[in-house]
Amino acid sequence: MNAGPGAPRVALVTGATAGIGRATAQLLVARGWRVVGAGRRVDRLAAMERDLGEAFHGLAFDIADETAMRVALASLPAELAAIDLLVNNAGLGLGTQPAQDGSLADWRVMVETNILGLLAITRELLPRLIERRGAIVNLSSVHATWPAPTNGVYGGTKAFVRQFTLDLRVDLHGTGVRVTSIEPGLVETDFYRVRSGADQAGHDAYYGGTDPLRPGDVAEAIAWVAGLPPHVNVDTLEIMPVSQSWAGYRLDRGGGGGR
Ligand SMILES: NC(=O)c1ccc[n+]([C@@H]2O[C@H](COP(=O)([O-])OP(=O)(O)OC[C@H]3O[C@@H](n4cnc5c(N)ncnc54)[C@H](OP(=O)(O)O)[C@@H]3O)[C@@H](O)[C@H]2O)c1
Repeated sequence: MNAGPGAPRVALVTGATAGIGRATAQLLVARGWRVVGAGRRVDRLAAMERDLGEAFHGLAFDIADETAMRVALASLPAELAAIDLLVNNAGLGLGTQPAQDGSLADWRVMVETNILGLLAITRELLPRLIERRGAIVNLSSVHATWPAPTNGVYGGTKAFVRQFTLDLRVDLHGTGVRVTSIEPGLVETDFYRVRSGADQAGHDAYYGGTDPLRPGDVAEAIAWVAGLPPHVNVDTLEIMPVSQSWAGYRLDRGGGGGR
C-alpha cells in the first residue's frame, strides 16, 4: 500500500528511535511516505536521517514535556507540518513488581508518557488532521483488555489509550478522520529492557523460546491500516504471536484464597 497519488503524504511517528516505531518509520518511508520521526535520542534520529535520506526528518523532544512538543512541532517546515497520519507509538512500561510493591514514581512516568503525552500531541495535531481528513493510529496493547500479573498500571494506561481511541472516533464522526487502536501482544523490542533494567542476557532470557512478534509485524499492520481507502476504518486490531494465547489461565484447585 503506497502513500497514494500525488505528493507524498506526511506521517508523524512518535517513539521512532526504537522497536515498533522505528520499524514503522522505515516501512512508511519504503512505501512512499515522508516521515517525521520523534524521540528523545538525538543520535538515533540522526542515524535514521542518514539511513533513510530526505524522506525522514528527526524531531527530538520528550513526549511528556508539552512545551517541548509544541516547540518541536513549530520548527517543522511547512511541507512537513501538514501531517496526514499520526502514529502515537511512544510509550513504556516500568517496574516488574505487583501493585502492592510498586513505585508511585514509575506509575507517574507511565501515565505522563503513555496517557498525557499522547493526549497532548493528539490535541495539538487534531485541527490539521481534520483539515486533511487524516488518520490516527494509537499503540495500545493486549493488556488493555487482558489482565496479567504486575501489569496493572501499564495495562491501565493502555486501556485508556484504547477507550480514548474509540471515543475520539465518535467525536470525529463526520470529519473523515480515521482512528485506530492497535493492540499487540509480545513484541521483541527494548520494551523489557526499559521496563526491568535487564541487560542483554536478561532480554534473551525473557524472549527466549517465545517466538514473539517482530517490530516489523506490527509496522505492517500500521502501514496497512494507514494505506486503506478513505472510507475504511479499522477500529481495533489485536495481534499476538501464535505462541501467546489465553491458554495460560489455570484453575487453582486450592481455591486461590491464599490459605
Ligand atoms: N513490545 C511489546 O511487547 C509491546 C506490546 C504492546 C504494545 N507495545 C507498545 O508499543 C509502543 C512501542 O514500544 P516498543 O516495544 O517498540 O518499545 P521500545 O523499543 O522501548 O521503544 C519505545 C519508544 O518510545 C520512545 N519513548 C519512550 N518514552 C518517551 C518519551 N518520554 N518521550 C519521547 N519518546 C519516548 C522511545 O524513544 P526515546 O527513548 O528515544 O525517547 C522509543 O523510541 C509502546 O507504546 C508500547 O507500550 C509494545
